[in-house]
Amino acid sequence: MLDTALRGMPELHPGEVWLAGAGPGDPALLTLQALAGLDQAEIVVHDSLVDARVLALARPNARRIFAGKRGGRPSTHQGNITAQLVGFAREGARVLRLKGGDPYVFGRGAEEVLALAEEGIPFRVIPGITSGLASLTMALMPATVRGINRAILLATGHGITDENRECDLDWTQIARLGQPIVLYMAIARLPAISQALQAGGLPPDTAAAAIASATMSGERVVVSTLGSLPDDIARCGIAAPAIVVIGEIVRTRAKLLALLPQLAGGTPWPPG
Ligand SMILES: C[S@@+](CC[C@H](N)C(=O)[O-])C[C@H]1O[C@@H](n2cnc3c(N)ncnc32)[C@H](O)[C@@H]1O
Repeated sequence: MLDTALRGMPELHPGEVWLAGAGPGDPALLTLQALAGLDQAEIVVHDSLVDARVLALARPNARRIFAGKRGGRPSTHQGNITAQLVGFAREGARVLRLKGGDPYVFGRGAEEVLALAEEGIPFRVIPGITSGLASLTMALMPATVRGINRAILLATGHGITDENRECDLDWTQIARLGQPIVLYMAIARLPAISQALQAGGLPPDTAAAAIASATMSGERVVVSTLGSLPDDIARCGIAAPAIVVIGEIVRTRAKLLALLPQLAGGTPWPPG
């Protein structure tokens, strides 16, 4: 059945670039189209958060090029990445640009497709499961719960320096939304963000959690409160990549675990 589904996938033509989301980590969460891209690409240009198990699905003779940031290793400049994609496509290669999660969610996918479009390179964008939503699901925290929330905010905790100005969100306004907040790249700035949200009116005992390496080896979940989460993260040694979630939806995890403690290990229920 999987073979039939893969046979119906589009062809990655020579000189074309597919920009695909690799999902949060577990290859079982790839889309069929991303898998078809891995099966056809001669060159795979990937970010650091693309799981090794996903990269292993590329053709054995495919050239794998690392283009991301990783502790201790120099980061690849965005301009160099787009120039590489354009160059490979012009040489007539079948190119897969693989990004963690979804390419258009805090992944600079927009910049890359605009550059490809400007250079007249044919491309296709393949959505992936973004880590913000996958992390919630894996941690037993539904993104929306009827009666609790009617919206959910996906935000970056990473401050961006733009022409020497620090651009940041207005956390006071965000606190007033009264809806769950899902933060990417927020671990380093969480103490300041937590303070700002409390200053905006969110009580310190608002449920909050951090989910690290969701669907990857070393997945961890720390449940806490808005006031205590920064200290709890430090105490538990939680490190990037991690998603922070703030809001009542976090409490669903405890309700489910009270009924089925076996779910804590992330195992399916019933097992087997
Ligand atoms: C540059 S952003 C890329 C987001 C990606 N495009 C997406 O849709 O998930 C990197 C951040 O995504 C989050 N992230 C990515 N993979 C993750 C995972 N498996 N578990 C938890 N957080 C993850 C972390 O906040 C990390 O710092």
